Amino acid sequence: MRTRAQRHADSKRTEGMYVRPNIARMQAYLPGEQPTESAWVKLNTNENPYPPSPEVAKAILAEAAGELNQYPDPMADAVRERLATRFSLARENFLVGNGGDDILTIVTRSIAGEKDLVAYPSPTYILYETLAELQAAKIHEVPYGPDFAIPEALFGSGARLTFLANPNSPSGTAVPVKQIKRLADSLDGALLVDEAYADFADDTAMRLVGRAANLCVLRSFSKSFSLAGLRVGYLAGPVELVSQFAKAKDSYNVNRLSMAAAAAALDDYDYMLENVERIRRSRCELTEALDELGFSSLPSQANFIWTKVPSPGARSLYEKLKSRKILVRFWDRPAMSDYVRITVGTDKQVELFLSTVREIIGAQDV
Ligand SMILES: Cc1ncc(COP(=O)(O)O)c(C=O)c1O
Repeated sequence: MRTRAQRHADSKRTEGMYVRPNIARMQAYLPGEQPTESAWVKLNTNENPYPPSPEVAKAILAEAAGELNQYPDPMADAVRERLATRFSLARENFLVGNGGDDILTIVTRSIAGEKDLVAYPSPTYILYETLAELQAAKIHEVPYGPDFAIPEALFGSGARLTFLANPNSPSGTAVPVKQIKRLADSLDGALLVDEAYADFADDTAMRLVGRAANLCVLRSFSKSFSLAGLRVGYLAGPVELVSQFAKAKDSYNVNRLSMAAAAAALDDYDYMLENVERIRRSRCELTEALDELGFSSLPSQANFIWTKVPSPGARSLYEKLKSRKILVRFWDRPAMSDYVRITVGTDKQVELFLSTVREIIGAQDV
């Protein structure tokens, strides 16, 4: 039998009364499904279907045989040095994080306070909304038009922080770098260009780093480098901003094994580029095959395709694929519920996906 005090504590907990009201009110961010058995074909969370460079496993084993009893380098300089060389910037232009999501958290926490304006176009990466809600910030969400250009209302919006995923997720579309510079110049606040998928794209805003005091670029090792399981991402930005962000991070936010892995992956850059080329080729083939089946896909610069589903519709296709152990991403949200997002897999996965789709929508094999 629970005491009165215990019952009181239970009810407070269920009502979320111990946490800040904005957290009690908000919906939890829902990551894509991660089944634990291996029988699934996972085309839902934009992971790279190919393994990372063999040098990564060697580096992890070597690091594991070393000083795991000691904390890692707080600034992950082994990674920063390599990035500085790769992008012809200074080590101090970079901040490394526990995945790109850690960088997004650090940036939002550093910039947006209660009631500050956080802006982004929509639909986009849903974590921006979650992070703004955590800060009790005000959200300025501006819908993309059909061309997925930067919406005019974002220019000079007065936001303290603007997020722009380029290429965007879920659409896969990209905007010209010139427009990004124009956006940065129009803002009094900071602009974070989220380039988690930039290695699959034709262009990058990396050359703007240092040319606009308010512009930072985020990159991830999860997609092009096949290291989603290790959680490494980084920010490139003006030294003054990076040193401020460093105050808001956890002291040791990148562990020794992940740091060694990221350094080894950077040392084998060509391996990553080859995988990216394969994925870009498969992206083209998958888009053409979907077109022939009556899907209508947005032009993708990423390792996934967002596509409008013909009859029987997106939800039904998602569910039917799932019952056959193939996962794609579907959001039951306004302006998104006619589409599914399909990660570009290996050729074998793409073939299996397409033959299953043909069976589901009752089309003839082409
Ligand atoms: C647009 C975008 N930004 C950032 C991330 C974060 O990537 P990670 O934390 O794996 O580096 C993701 C992950 O899916 C993403 O889609």
